[in-house]
Amino acid sequence: MSEKIYIFDSTLRDGEQTPGAKLNPKEKLKIAKQLAKLNVDIIECGFPISSPGEFKAVEAIAKEVKGPVICGLARALPKDIEVCWEAIKKAEQPRIHVFLASSPIHMKYKLRKDPEELLNMGIEAVKYARKFTPEVQYSLEDATRSELDYMCRVIEGIINAGARVINLPDTVGYAVPEQFCEMIDNIRNRVPNIDKAIISVHCHNDLGLAVVNSLEAIRHGVRQIECNINGIGERAGNAALEEIVVAMIVRKDYFKDYHHDINTKEIYKTSRMVSHLMGIPIPVNKAVIGTNAFKHSSGIHQDGILKNMQTYEIINAELIGGKAGQINLTARSGRHAVRHELQQMGFTPDDEEFEKIYALFLDLADKKKQVFREDLEALIADSIVYTAPTYSLEYLQTVSGTKSIPSAVVKLKKDKEIFIETATGSGPIDAAYNAINKITGLELRLEKYNLRAVTEGRDALGEVSITIEYQGKNYIGRGTSTDIVEASVKAYLNGINKLIAFYAGGNGR
Ligand code: KIV
Ligand code: ZN
Repeated sequence: MSEKIYIFDSTLRDGEQTPGAKLNPKEKLKIAKQLAKLNVDIIECGFPISSPGEFKAVEAIAKEVKGPVICGLARALPKDIEVCWEAIKKAEQPRIHVFLASSPIHMKYKLRKDPEELLNMGIEAVKYARKFTPEVQYSLEDATRSELDYMCRVIEGIINAGARVINLPDTVGYAVPEQFCEMIDNIRNRVPNIDKAIISVHCHNDLGLAVVNSLEAIRHGVRQIECNINGIGERAGNAALEEIVVAMIVRKDYFKDYHHDINTKEIYKTSRMVSHLMGIPIPVNKAVIGTNAFKHSSGIHQDGILKNMQTYEIINAELIGGKAGQINLTARSGRHAVRHELQQMGFTPDDEEFEKIYALFLDLADKKKQVFREDLEALIADSIVYTAPTYSLEYLQTVSGTKSIPSAVVKLKKDKEIFIETATGSGPIDAAYNAINKITGLELRLEKYNLRAVTEGRDALGEVSITIEYQGKNYIGRGTSTDIVEASVKAYLNGINKLIAFYAGGNGR
C-alpha cells in the first residue's frame, strides 16, 4: 500500500523570511486560506514571539483556517513556547514546533553553550511544550553539519520527552543527496525509539539541491517534507512545494510507493497569490509554474507538440490548474464575462474586490488591444490591498529627454490631505522618487529595482517591483501600468505604504 507523505508548508514562516517579503495579518490569512484549499497537511504560519503583528497573524489563522494542522515556531525557551501556544491554541489541530541547533558551529559560536547543556535544554523544552499539546515537533537546526553521535542522543532524548515529529533541517543548504540520505539511514538505524516519531526534512536551496534532497529523503523513510510555495525562503529559499508534489505525480513510476493529498489544481493560483502579495516575481523559467514552463519556442519543438504533446511536454498544465495565455476579453466585456474569466482562473473575489478589479480592467482594456491572463493576474494583485494605503497617487507628470533635465511633479493624497512636490533627478523615475521623498519626509534607500513586461508587445503592462530600505529593514513594493514611470511610482508608494503599515501595526521598535 502506498504511504502518505505529509506536506508541511512553511511559506508563511520561512518563506516570509525572504528579505522584504513581510506580509500584514490580512495578507497572511488570505494565503493561509488558500493553502488550506491546496490541502497542505500542515501550515507553519509564523514565529509568534517575534512581534505583536506576527502573533496577531498566527492567532487569526489558528481561529479561522480549518483543515490543516496549524503550527507555530518557538525557540527552546519557556516564554517562546507559551507565546506560541497562546497564538495557536484555538486551531482545530495546533502544533508547537521547537527548534534548537545541534551543529558544533552553531553551538559554539551562536548559542555559546555546551552540547550537554543544549541537549537538556531541548528535552526540557519538549516536555514543557507537551504540557500544552501532544502535537510537538522538534528541529535539530543545522542537522546536516552536526555530529551523528550527538544527533542520535538528542533525537532519542526528545522522542522520550514526547516529540512526535523529528525534523532534520539542511539549514544552510549544504547537503548532497547521497550523504543526506546516508545521514537519515544512520539515524533510523541507530536511534532505538525512532519508530515512535515521524521523520521530517527541511531543505534549503543554497546549492540548488533542496528539491532533490527532499525527494530522495522520501525513499529513505522520511514522511514529512517541509517546503514553500515558489521555493521562497531564507537566502536562496527552501524546497519548492509545487516541484515536489508535481514530481511525485509525474514520476509515479519512481515514487510508486508514496502519495500526497495535495490538490494540485490549486497550485497555479496559490503560486501567483504568494508572488503578488509578497512582491516576489516568479522567474519565467521556474520549473512547474514559470510562464515559460508550457511554452514551446523552437520550430522543431512546436512541430513536435502539434503532432503529439508528449514529444516535448511531461506536465499537463491542467494538473496545476492553469496556463498563461490570451483570453477573450475586450473593453466591451461586461462584468459577467470578467467574473467568469476570473472564476476560470480560480479567483472568486467578493463584490468589493471584484469592483476594484473590474475598474482596473476597463482602464487597461482601453489601452491594450489584447488582455492576457497574466494581465488579469496583475490586476488582481493590484486590487488586493489589505491595509488602506496611507499615500495614494493623484497625479504624476514627468519630463525627460536627451536635452532636458529630468523632472517630476507628484501629487499624493493622504487621508483627505493633498501634497504636491516637484523634484529633478537622474531620470524621470529618480525625479519622481525624489519628489515622493520630499512629501513623506522618509529617508529611504532604493535597494532593488526590477521592471518586467507582464506580456509581450509594445502595449504590454509593465510590472515594477522595488525593494526599499528603511532603518535596516527591507520592504518590497510592486506596481503595474502600461506607463513604466507610473508603474515605478506605484511600486514605490506600495513599498512606503507597507512600511507605514508595519510600524502602525506595532512592529517597528
Ligand atoms: O532552516 C532551518 O533550520 C529552520 C528551522 C527553524 C527549522 O528554518
Ligand atoms: Zn529554514
